[in-house]
Amino acid sequence: MRALTVVPGAAGSLQLTELPDPEPRPGELVVEGLVVGVCGTDREIADGEYGWAPPGRDRLVIGHESLGRVRSAPEGSGFSAGDLVVGVVRRPDPVPCGACARGEFDNCRNGRYTERGIKELDGYGAGLWCVEADYAVALDAALERVGVLMEPTSVVAKAWEQVRRVGERAWFEPERALVTGAGPIGLLAAMIGVQQGLEVHVLDRVADGPKPALVERLGATYHHGDVEEVAGKLQPDVVIEATGVGSLVFAAMRNTSPYGVICLTGVSEPGRKSEIDAGGVNREMVLENNAVVGSVNANLRHYRQAAEALAAADRDWLDGLITRRVPLDAFAEAFEAGPEGVKVVVELEGGR
Ligand code: BGC
Repeated sequence: MRALTVVPGAAGSLQLTELPDPEPRPGELVVEGLVVGVCGTDREIADGEYGWAPPGRDRLVIGHESLGRVRSAPEGSGFSAGDLVVGVVRRPDPVPCGACARGEFDNCRNGRYTERGIKELDGYGAGLWCVEADYAVALDAALERVGVLMEPTSVVAKAWEQVRRVGERAWFEPERALVTGAGPIGLLAAMIGVQQGLEVHVLDRVADGPKPALVERLGATYHHGDVEEVAGKLQPDVVIEATGVGSLVFAAMRNTSPYGVICLTGVSEPGRKSEIDAGGVNREMVLENNAVVGSVNANLRHYRQAAEALAAADRDWLDGLITRRVPLDAFAEAFEAGPEGVKVVVELEGGR
């Protein structure tokens, strides 16, 4: 079978590699890879800026946004041939730390967690892959075209859960949310915000392309103006920041309603400096009881929440988030980021 592999740390090393079919260990499913989504993390790995190969190897099979069809499943696993499944990204650290021991590996404390397609474990960008039944999530057969959105949806399900939990340290009935960035994370965060009954606003820099209509179709409001102006007028109770752009992060922190919760989900490039009025930001945070929370990854509870959110969403709308489906042989095109498209996926050979 062919897989998308990369030498972490070596820019330009992404290639299609012929690999032996994987052998399932006890308790594992064998899955035919249908598609794999490509996100900013994958582009960073392909650019040699992130990622770790499995110990003792140079190459890592890339891909953590999975979707596949079960070829074989162990007896009693709860899965059977033909089921549509997604593989969970992270595995607990071997110690394990207190969080990992409690199934909260998304909040691992010692950094020794591993991640499929990112950190020391082969990913899902292959015609065939194996996954432990305990880390596979079944999807409704009707979600075949959009099930690859499960992993990014789990990331935003976690972000919303964090917002609620932080908010609930006192009375909390948020009404208005601002999402900065209309990429897949931002749009899926907006979708969950609307599902929760909030008035949702989405800010992005582009004025054309599919993003404005996708936001309007959700029943949310699209903005492409200056962040200070937009957030200043809206005074949102909740901000989900999905760009990682430093100036947006601080503008969001300065412009929430009192008791605002800001959830940061964008992984930014370090080393970019910008001037901020740190005293002013601190003053506002203290005098308004604001809270900022960073959020990454997702545990099994968040995958279940994501499955519910996807099941409740409009299937056509979800389909519209996938703006490009690239055949495996043209994989390189999927790793070129464009400002206007939303989600790009690569079609795998298990899907043929
Ligand atoms: C993935 C997360 C992962 C993070 C850091 C993100 O792109 O969605 O699952 O934890 O990268 O490696």
